[in-house]
Amino acid sequence: MNPFRKRTGIFPSYFTGRENELSELRDIYESTRQGAAEHIIVYGPKGIGKTCLLLKFQDEIKNIKEVYPVRIPLVEGNFDDIYSLIVDKCADALHIKVSHFWDKIESLGFNIPMVAGLNVSRNIPTTSPSVAIEKILKTIYEELNGENPVLILLFDDLQRIISDTGPSKVLSILQSALVELNLKRMNIMFVATGSHDIFSQIQDHVDSAVRLFEPYELKPLTFNELRDAVVIPAKKEGVIFDEDVIEIIFEISEGIPYYMQVIAYKCFDEAVGSKVGVKEFEKAFPQSLNILAQREFKGMYEKSTTEERKILALMAESDKEVFSYADIKSDSNLKSEPSNLLKRMLEKNLIVKKERGKYKLRDRVFKEYLRKTKLYKENGTFL
Ligand SMILES: Nc1ncnc2c1ncn2[C@@H]1O[C@H](COP(=O)(O)OP(=O)(O)O)[C@@H](O)[C@H]1O
Ligand SMILES: [Mg+2]
Repeated sequence: MNPFRKRTGIFPSYFTGRENELSELRDIYESTRQGAAEHIIVYGPKGIGKTCLLLKFQDEIKNIKEVYPVRIPLVEGNFDDIYSLIVDKCADALHIKVSHFWDKIESLGFNIPMVAGLNVSRNIPTTSPSVAIEKILKTIYEELNGENPVLILLFDDLQRIISDTGPSKVLSILQSALVELNLKRMNIMFVATGSHDIFSQIQDHVDSAVRLFEPYELKPLTFNELRDAVVIPAKKEGVIFDEDVIEIIFEISEGIPYYMQVIAYKCFDEAVGSKVGVKEFEKAFPQSLNILAQREFKGMYEKSTTEERKILALMAESDKEVFSYADIKSDSNLKSEPSNLLKRMLEKNLIVKKERGKYKLRDRVFKEYLRKTKLYKENGTFL
């Protein structure tokens, strides 16, 4: 049995690290239980471990009395879907019929905007989104058992619903609803995850819309955390990874759990005599790149323009890691001024900004992919 994971969103067989994050979440829970609700948004790039952190936290607290964690994975779409999504997931988690919720909500006599399949009376004016959210959460909270229950809402991938509505709007709606509910002594704690750029998007717009939400950046694993995550589950299956291989995996994955899992997965398959040495790694790594190419990199590359590909080629082919604006302007025979290209490449997450005027490829595994496939070469114009 291969103990590693080829996909995101699947809980690992061995969960490593994240002690600080879990203790932060526990603190927020404790504070919320005592009547001073807190809310947090954990952000970071795809594969950094956001979903699994939520799963781990949910698992940790689910057996505490009067605590009700509900995970709400968000799907790309209309903000109006969020009402039914919240109701569906809470009904599920609390073992209550969905129709019972809607009956109660409806009996409050207000008109929730655009809930599919719901017969709302015409003569009641449409409730504002934040009041709708507030009423729905209030109805749910009142279903909870206990003297002082805590409802924990775990929203996974918040960027999916804020992208088309404008970043500040969704959060300010949630903020007003949560403030009202918390004032009315309902212990509701909000934990969301979001993409790497969720906060920079928001802060550009309305600062006050995010005051309630503490930003928390989820960082890569440390060497020892990664080492445990590879060595312990492999050993359980009778496979030993060389220390050299662990070091290579750390270096190349940069501690990103998704990459670590995909690389370890193929290494495990290539084990010879229950051992994974550098030779086995070298056989396995191109296969790991293939998996990542199919799932991530190919699509990312295809979204880039011819001009952007010149910059990708420059960065991939150089041994240098970080490039200044001047490097890019002088080196890559671009037709256009690089500023706009760089801006768009940042938005597409093809590159990241190290500091002012310093850029690098999004990560090392992506660089390996570009170097191996050299797609930019086939594309004609240069090299
Ligand atoms: N703490 C961890 N220990 C071991 N593996 C992890 C850990 N966190 C995440 N992973 C693995 O990394 C991959 C990506 O994690 P995920 O939580 O889906 O990332 P995100 O939600 O940020 O995209 C999954 O295969 C998961 O099993
Ligand atoms: Mg996720």
